[in-house]
Amino acid sequence: MRPVTFHDRADSYEDGWRGRMHHDIASRTADLACTSADAPRRVLDVGCGTGLLLRLLADRLPETESLVGIDAAAGMIAVAQSKAHDPRLSFSEGTAEKLPYPDGSFDLVVSTTSFDHWRDQGAGLRECARVLVPSGHFVLTDLLSWLLAPTLFFRHRDRVRTKHRAETLLEAAGFRTMQWHSPYSLIIGSVVASKRE
Ligand SMILES: C[S@@+](CC[C@H](N)C(=O)[O-])C[C@H]1O[C@@H](n2cnc3c(N)ncnc32)[C@H](O)[C@@H]1O
Repeated sequence: MRPVTFHDRADSYEDGWRGRMHHDIASRTADLACTSADAPRRVLDVGCGTGLLLRLLADRLPETESLVGIDAAAGMIAVAQSKAHDPRLSFSEGTAEKLPYPDGSFDLVVSTTSFDHWRDQGAGLRECARVLVPSGHFVLTDLLSWLLAPTLFFRHRDRVRTKHRAETLLEAAGFRTMQWHSPYSLIIGSVVASKRE
């Protein structure tokens, strides 16, 4: 039987306890992004899903010119477009590993609970750094905790999962000054990094 994909789950993604959990994680990530990046002009959400985080950011950032979301699942993009309540929001299909934007297109890049699904996490982080302006900010929230270290011995050995592994990959991708936060539970971590100039 074919596994249920994000495309299949898109219509009901924001429903029930899972929807509430994603809303809480997105809301706390939005708070962190707003306190970390000073009046960003252009914002990108990588693995934006139904556009939850960008809708919250649009409400909190009235001066921002554009809020752009990209996601690998066509169903998620269709739902994000149907829920967009602000003309500054736009969404398109694509992957973190090959972002379709020129270098230095955004002042702030955000991503919540998508990174662990990226096929090539190093390539995705390099792309996030490439599309940021020098000293732009990257806010990444995902399964990032030392408590997840045991999972690296089994099915998830190629995943980042711990803060130490994330910092190594972020530095290799061109980021510096990383500050860690615990926005939700012990296994969800947020890192705020800035692009090296
Ligand atoms: C758990 S959902 C999170 C969605 C949204 N960020 C949120 O917090 O509600 C993970 C999302 O990552 C997307 N995704 C998975 N791999 C991706 C990739 N390589 N590039 C872009 N998006 C990806 C999936 O399609 C899915 O919409």
